[in-house]
Amino acid sequence: ELGAFTHYMEKEIFEQPMALENAMRGRFSDDESTSKFGGLNLDAREFRHVDRIVFLACGTAWHACLVAEYLIEKYARIPVEVEYASEFRYRNAPLDKNTLVFVISQSGETLDTLEALREAKRKGYRVLGITNGVGSTIARETDGGVYQHAGPEIGVASTKAFTSQVLIGGMLALHLGRMRDLSFSDGREMVKAFRSLPGLVSQVLGQAEQIKEIASRYTDYEDFLFLGRQSMFPIALEGALKLKEISYIHAEGYPAAEMKHGPIALISEKCPSVVLSPHGDTFSKVLSNIQETRARKGRVIAITSAGKDFPEEGADDVIHIPHAHDCVMPILATIPLQLLAYYIAVNRECDVDKPRNLAKSVTVE
Ligand code: M6R
Repeated sequence: ELGAFTHYMEKEIFEQPMALENAMRGRFSDDESTSKFGGLNLDAREFRHVDRIVFLACGTAWHACLVAEYLIEKYARIPVEVEYASEFRYRNAPLDKNTLVFVISQSGETLDTLEALREAKRKGYRVLGITNGVGSTIARETDGGVYQHAGPEIGVASTKAFTSQVLIGGMLALHLGRMRDLSFSDGREMVKAFRSLPGLVSQVLGQAEQIKEIASRYTDYEDFLFLGRQSMFPIALEGALKLKEISYIHAEGYPAAEMKHGPIALISEKCPSVVLSPHGDTFSKVLSNIQETRARKGRVIAITSAGKDFPEEGADDVIHIPHAHDCVMPILATIPLQLLAYYIAVNRECDVDKPRNLAKSVTVE
């Protein structure tokens, strides 16, 4: 079943173009320049009444929620809140009657997420889900939702399920945005960008050998920082989680600007940083963070946009991702981080698909 691959995680990383294709199939309307979902069970009038969205999830799925927050607030201008399912359950959060609750779960069986969903339903909220597990408990108990169609994910470290959740979050932002102020032509640009995504992801995957070579130079560190701003911040969290789960290296994700409020104390020749620095509004600020890091002898792997200026010798290692529409950049930036974590873990002879102490689906509290 593994074919030419050594691990399921590797196979699933390389399956991403197809998983993304499957998440999009039949879900765009060119006439209306929007995305459409069959199973939300909410009509446009009901959606118009939504004035707040709360996303609940755990682990990697929680990171996908954070990206969805950026995208929905940016393109649909609806306030979004993201909470760990396990916290929501016990917090008794005050919610307004026009709040829509969304749960995200690859397996559809995570106990904390399931109990958060039950708690929200008990209080009378409409709860929708994004799940990969067809017929899973969460899929059955939600009032409606979107299936990811990413195919089975066997590796404990979530890869293709994460990027497909982020994509669906972006498609929801488009859907909700087009019911509000997002114009026909802005919607069309987003549809175009989503459709180009499988090809762009394949391009990044084509750089696997280069990333493997970079990984070989970072195998023996015990601490890492991952930094990014705006929608790249959740990707920094996800990159750090991937590395710690499968290689047992201590890694932390931070918004790049927070560095000076504490984490900068960690930087030394023993603690490299992976800095998400694609071109955009905060590019020059992130460049300064890279300089500050290197001035303290911290090695830097920069992920930046191909074809745009990145200062020569600006980082110790540079990985280029295609420069595309903002709505797809978080996905493109994720791919090198998955590959880095994977190759570092393989070099450290770790059990990549079954990391110690972890289960694929957490069905206990
Ligand atoms: O199946 P779920 O998406 O609900 O799982 C949530 C987390 O347990 C899961 O994402 C976990 O963090 C992964 N091991 C991350 O790679």
